[in-house]
Amino acid sequence: MRTNVVIVGGGPSGLLLSRLLSVDGIDNIVLEKQSEEHVIGRIRAGVLENGTIEMLEKAGVSDRLKNEGFNHDGIQLSFKNHGFRINLKQLTNKHVTVYGQTEVTKDLYKKIKKENGIIINNAKDVLPQAIDTDKPCVTFKKNGVEKKIMCDLVAGCDGFHGISRSIIPKSIIKTYERTYPFGWLGILSETPPVSDELIYANHGNGFALASMRNENLSRYYIQTSLDEKIENWSDKKFWDELKKRLPTEASDTIITGSSIEKSIAPLRSFVCEPMSWEKLFLVGDAAHIVPPTGAKGLNLAVSDVYYLHNALKNYYKFHTNYDLKMYSNNALSRVWKSIRFSWWMTTTFHKFPDQSSFDQRIQDSEIEYLENSVASQRVLAENYVGLPY
Ligand code: APR
Ligand code: PHB
Repeated sequence: MRTNVVIVGGGPSGLLLSRLLSVDGIDNIVLEKQSEEHVIGRIRAGVLENGTIEMLEKAGVSDRLKNEGFNHDGIQLSFKNHGFRINLKQLTNKHVTVYGQTEVTKDLYKKIKKENGIIINNAKDVLPQAIDTDKPCVTFKKNGVEKKIMCDLVAGCDGFHGISRSIIPKSIIKTYERTYPFGWLGILSETPPVSDELIYANHGNGFALASMRNENLSRYYIQTSLDEKIENWSDKKFWDELKKRLPTEASDTIITGSSIEKSIAPLRSFVCEPMSWEKLFLVGDAAHIVPPTGAKGLNLAVSDVYYLHNALKNYYKFHTNYDLKMYSNNALSRVWKSIRFSWWMTTTFHKFPDQSSFDQRIQDSEIEYLENSVASQRVLAENYVGLPY
């Protein structure tokens, strides 16, 4: 088998890149370790930046998103049970769109299959090889049979736990990491969302977030300690704690119900540099992770796809590898800005176990400043709706 680009990993990054390359007539094959059902069964954040929407439009997968997505012109912030609004639209002339990442992935799968794109699911032991030669290839096993695809280039879109990042020699790669001493306990419930807009709440007991998927599907999170066990969180205990942390108007009106999903996730910031080596290009979670505060994970993966797709287009159409050589620098410049923003949202809205009274006062004054200063609000808004590519 031979193709132009082998894409390792069929999550949102890999699928979007595949689709955009196919639109430009560049051959590609996606190798995904899991089944399609497994990939589209994952529940992830659902706030899309404008730039992400434009990329999905280019990929021809925005019809359902346009019908079923919800445009949000603002977000609510809360502090000591007092809520206030950040008017994203007024501050930036942009909005965000609430549409689940799961739905984005489903739309991409459907479109790729319809257009005869190639996704090989259940591809085991995927291994990019001879990356620093003129004959790179990727080997894998399908139904126990060894296979090999010769290619020009490999896109490593295989997430944080994938194989691609480990191909870059240790002498070249440098990683930067921050782990946070808490996690998010999240539930999905078939209840109407408590508010038309997302609420990010700072509270003495810890952070809370009220989010949604649609008019009758709510997503709520509370900060918990990392050693918390999911079995210890009955639905009632979750709702009681959430109500303590949200702004009073929301706690008074929230409609509760039984949860249809409940899980705890750790929070981490991580970046690897460079994001490319020889014929290998890392994209999305394979190269970086952000904590979910600020909803940047998917959006950041899409901006990597933007830079790589552009570079590959110039390589195949205009025979210039300049943008491929610049890919890591270009992508990282935006990555670090999102890393900074997600870190800032996380540190400003969560309670740290070792938080001193001084730290507490600094956090309080940061949020008070946000409520009262348009300049401060604009910084948040500009980052939240997404920095330009
Ligand atoms: N071989 C093939 N596929 C692999 C391998 C491997 N060795 N390892 C992992 N994968 C697959 C995973 O099964 C997954 O489907 O790669 C895919 C990576 O997808 P994501 O982890 O979703 O990463 P990405 O596509 O970069 O998406 C980034 O979306 O999933 C969210 O939290 C993520 O918000 C972030 C954004
Ligand atoms: C979600 O809806 O799951 C969500 C929304 C916003 C975030 C994180 C998660 O910042």
